[in-house]
Amino acid sequence: MEKLVIEGGVPLRGTICVSGSKNAALPILFAALLLDGPVTFHNVPRLRDISTAVAMLGVLGCPAGFTDDKGHTIRAEAGRLLPEAPYELVKTMRASVLVLGPLLARLGRARVALPGGCAIGARPVEQHTRALEKMGAVLELDSGYIVGRCDRLRGADITFDFPTVGGTEHLIMAASLAEGDTFLRNAAREPEVVDLADFLNACGARISGQGTDTVHIRGVSGLRGETYSIMPDRIEAGTFLAAAAVTGGDCDIAGCPVEELTAVMAKMGEMGISLEPHENGVAVHRTGPLRGVDMTTRPYPGFPTDMQAQLMVLMALAEGSSTVEEKIFENRFMHVPELSRMGADIKLSGSRAVIRGVRQLTGAPVMASDLRASASLVIAGLAARGKTQVQRIYHLDRGYEGIERKLEQVGARIRRERDEG
Ligand code: EPZ
Repeated sequence: MEKLVIEGGVPLRGTICVSGSKNAALPILFAALLLDGPVTFHNVPRLRDISTAVAMLGVLGCPAGFTDDKGHTIRAEAGRLLPEAPYELVKTMRASVLVLGPLLARLGRARVALPGGCAIGARPVEQHTRALEKMGAVLELDSGYIVGRCDRLRGADITFDFPTVGGTEHLIMAASLAEGDTFLRNAAREPEVVDLADFLNACGARISGQGTDTVHIRGVSGLRGETYSIMPDRIEAGTFLAAAAVTGGDCDIAGCPVEELTAVMAKMGEMGISLEPHENGVAVHRTGPLRGVDMTTRPYPGFPTDMQAQLMVLMALAEGSSTVEEKIFENRFMHVPELSRMGADIKLSGSRAVIRGVRQLTGAPVMASDLRASASLVIAGLAARGKTQVQRIYHLDRGYEGIERKLEQVGARIRRERDEG
């Protein structure tokens, strides 16, 4: 295993470039299963989760891969598809369950491992399966696998119990090749859902309403391969905004999406962070003290749960008290005990955290538990006095491309080491 060793206290200065969005790239890669013909994706981040998705596509008969060993372009072409998504791959990345709908749409049958939970929650998928059944799929659970079959999926009028991101993406893919019209109501409005729909429309799908709470998909008989560029990663960008701000630095986050980060930028502005959008990114700096704020995570366009752990580090060093209500996941405070080991003053009660700002955090060995908790520990290490060792950074490598290289380029004292621990 590996760890990151960070000597904190250096204000970050310079330009950090944002990579392509992991959470847009994953469903878009799986959408390659729907296409007749080769497809090329640009601006794909080089991440562990992307490698898992590429492996999954290969197992399903849709060979995919980066076109060179440094670039960010993936080429894929669905051949004779196979119906089985094995547990060994699904258990490493639960988003793999999204292949179920495309396989049913193309083959009329599928055997996809039911994803387990993860550190942040049970993460069931009943919204996905109920909706697919409404479209005519017959789904059974057999030894931990969802076994599905159908004739041709039929368009349906579906209302989600809540705006599920994966559920919306899953059903957009399944409905694209269904017979007739599908309406997804109470749909997720996240930018990554919009990017998927825009990609499928480029391939000949007939989707409208993406980005609103009602998505209308008119099924078509086939989709062609196209070339498409993945949107920038708004959560990676937000993570770097927090890192620059917490160190009292002065950075330019190049490629930072602005419209897709309004809730995050508004909250950071309330804390006294200066954010100046410009034509190809956002300039971020902080000179004065951080101010405590209250924040609740909500579906888009509310404050994103994927930025909750990162903002909490800013709160831990702010003047006064702050509160966090985590409304999306039932167990997304795994970073709190680790931040407390660095001197943060955080009290938890159910889905609520109360944070009392302290003057300084102190470096310590800490343990990553999930992707965004790991990011918050890196941010805390950058701000803390002394040395921080963030262990089990395979969690971090799932969603941040070369994070230590990007941070080192703006002055951070950070290095990756083998971890014998
Ligand atoms: C996506 O997960 C993202 N992952 C998550 O990012 C993100 O936190 C989440 O959306 C919310 O924005 C990807 O896009 C790959 P949901 P997803 O379906 O689709 C519950 C990261 O750090 N739920 O909107 O799984 C679920 O358990 C990751 O990059 C059901 O109960 O999110 C959760 O509590 C973490 N039944 C809530 O709804 C269902 O059928 C939101 O889930 C589906 C979801």
